[in-house]
Amino acid sequence: MPTPTDPAGPQRVLITGASSGIGRATAIELAGRGSRLVLVARGRESLEEAAAEALSAGAEEALVRPADVIDPDAVQAAVDDAVAEFGGLDVVVHAAQVMAYGRLEDVPREVFERTVDTAVHGTANVARSVLPVFRKQGAGHLVVVNSLLGNIAAPLMGSYVTAKWGQLGLIRVLQQETRDEPGISVSAVQPGGVDTPIYFQGATWAGSTGRPPPPVYSPQRVARAVLSTLDRPRRIVQSGIFNPLITAGFRLVPGVFDLLVGPLLQRMAIANDDSPPTEGNVFESRPAGNATEGRWRSI
Ligand SMILES: NC(=O)c1ccc[n+]([C@@H]2O[C@H](COP(=O)([O-])OP(=O)(O)OC[C@H]3O[C@@H](n4cnc5c(N)ncnc54)[C@H](OP(=O)(O)O)[C@@H]3O)[C@@H](O)[C@H]2O)c1
Repeated sequence: MPTPTDPAGPQRVLITGASSGIGRATAIELAGRGSRLVLVARGRESLEEAAAEALSAGAEEALVRPADVIDPDAVQAAVDDAVAEFGGLDVVVHAAQVMAYGRLEDVPREVFERTVDTAVHGTANVARSVLPVFRKQGAGHLVVVNSLLGNIAAPLMGSYVTAKWGQLGLIRVLQQETRDEPGISVSAVQPGGVDTPIYFQGATWAGSTGRPPPPVYSPQRVARAVLSTLDRPRRIVQSGIFNPLITAGFRLVPGVFDLLVGPLLQRMAIANDDSPPTEGNVFESRPAGNATEGRWRSI
């Protein structure tokens, strides 16, 4: 895949999910390159904090545009604003997502559907608004933060697994549909466990919130994987040393995988914190919980 833009120069970038976790860490890393940023998430308050951090880290500009990615008009308005302000867009990083824990029978239908919608229709809305801009320019790079869970399945995470498989399918289609424009790249970054607030911000009907399974990466490390993808476009980039092994186990020995995944998840990816059922931030922003890091030790 070709390099669509000059990664050395300041780039015009829109980031969704920019007020927390990986999106926020990516904003700060890109700020260090002097980028001009448009930061998108639902809540204004934590976007303003992220913008202040980005400006301190060296961003030439950091504009805040609150928008829900499942609202196509709001996404279009944010993209239109970015193009009007910057005269174009070189890079879009799409990291907005929510999480819900619990068995399919236990998670309310609306919570399940919103979790899937955020990934699948959110990605469709972002791509629908951004790709025409890239086509007009003959260049641009869309990086979607997907997940190891776009490759494998895990119990109690049905909505998120469905979300990430659907999102990855759409990303692969977009890669095929933009082959006619060599200046455009579409990439997926697939992290394993990352120390971000998504685990305790999300919904749960599992009696506990989740936690990132080890080895837990820092959001900055995943952000650097996003930047390396921008510098050298690839279809799918892993950010997790065991991702290929875990994916191979899921595909090659599904019986063994299914035997182990439940007990391992309970031991390593569930916080066991006696959490009552909650919708968490699935339907609306919870600014108090947004931050770059979560609460775990990371590498
Ligand atoms: N953390 C991990 O272990 C991990 C592992 C693999 C993949 N990932 C992926 O990495 C990406 C970032 O996750 P994270 O862990 O950094 O989560 P996070 O810290 O919870 O950040 C999620 C961001 O998305 C925003 N958001 C949520 N729903 C939105 C919506 N409908 N419209 C616009 N913005 C929305 C949130 O802000 P508001 O709530 O204010 O909107 C927040 O800025 C996601 O795609 C996630 O699936 C994470």
